[in-house]
Amino acid sequence: MSRKKVFITRMLPQPAIDMLKERFDVDIYEEDRAIPREVLLERVKGIDALLPLLTDKIDAEVMEAAGPNLKIIANYAVGYDNIDVEEATKRGIVVTNTPGVLTETTADLAWALLMAIARRIVEADKFTRAGKFKGWGPMMFLGSDVYGKTLGIVGAGRIGTAVAMRSKGFNMKVLYTDVRRNETLEKELGARKVELDELLRESDFISLHVPLTPETHHLIGERELKMMKKTAYLINTSRGPVIDEKALVEALKNGEIAGAALDVFENEPELTPGLAELDNVVLTPHIGSASVETRTRMATLAAENIIAYFEGKRPPTVVNPEVLEGRS
Ligand code: GLV
Ligand code: GLV
Repeated sequence: MSRKKVFITRMLPQPAIDMLKERFDVDIYEEDRAIPREVLLERVKGIDALLPLLTDKIDAEVMEAAGPNLKIIANYAVGYDNIDVEEATKRGIVVTNTPGVLTETTADLAWALLMAIARRIVEADKFTRAGKFKGWGPMMFLGSDVYGKTLGIVGAGRIGTAVAMRSKGFNMKVLYTDVRRNETLEKELGARKVELDELLRESDFISLHVPLTPETHHLIGERELKMMKKTAYLINTSRGPVIDEKALVEALKNGEIAGAALDVFENEPELTPGLAELDNVVLTPHIGSASVETRTRMATLAAENIIAYFEGKRPPTVVNPEVLEGRS
């Protein structure tokens, strides 16, 4: 039997590449940038497995271009809003993601952003480097306390839970929204499940951890920003379009909220005009899962999914398990 063909849309940590090369014919897009659409459509022709990134839109056109051999799409991300899962399911293509392995790393980044915006770390760093520090000042870079404040977690899944658990050391009151009750948070932290409006009104720090779906698109818009305290901060490590970024720029300009720390953007990698000019924001380039350990683990998990599938086993992290039902 000829070896299965795997296409990877960008260079990934080597251990995963080695695992795949041992078993399959592996083709990798060689440039260190997101693969252009027309190149993607060309390179997927005749492949059996696709390993894309969250920056690659995998829709019917790509699946059609790949042809009938394509059996598995192993996304290199926990979020899979870049993939038309319904279309894949219709075509009998398994979709997998990388949950679990990036939870703690992303929670760390959410906290790095929270602390950075509260204590104006980025502004203060720029000031110090610019040689403007002429001596201690009683009114210099006054920020906000974190200890004892109220943390609002929007979406208490794996990552939201990990972010909330870190608040123990800061003695914070925790509110959360989710479709399900989160008993861990209620037991461990005395967290309270509330409606989004109450969370918005009561929280000092609001951290977003929902997947991007039609329901969560612009979950935080003008109305929601107006409900937040003027002293509150918004942190987003989920997906950019969960926030109406234009409305956010207005709210930040008008002092309707104190600040925002964002790792993801509505039209990545573009920023909404005005956002980068504001002092009361911290902006990072979608690095939530960017630790050496985690990016390596994400890659090997994506590889494990592909290997398991072609060995006739159940891939460890399937998004559309219904495709596997009735598989002989
Ligand atoms: C990163 O944003 C991911 O979904 O893994
Ligand atoms: C994603 O891993 C989540 O459930 O938060």
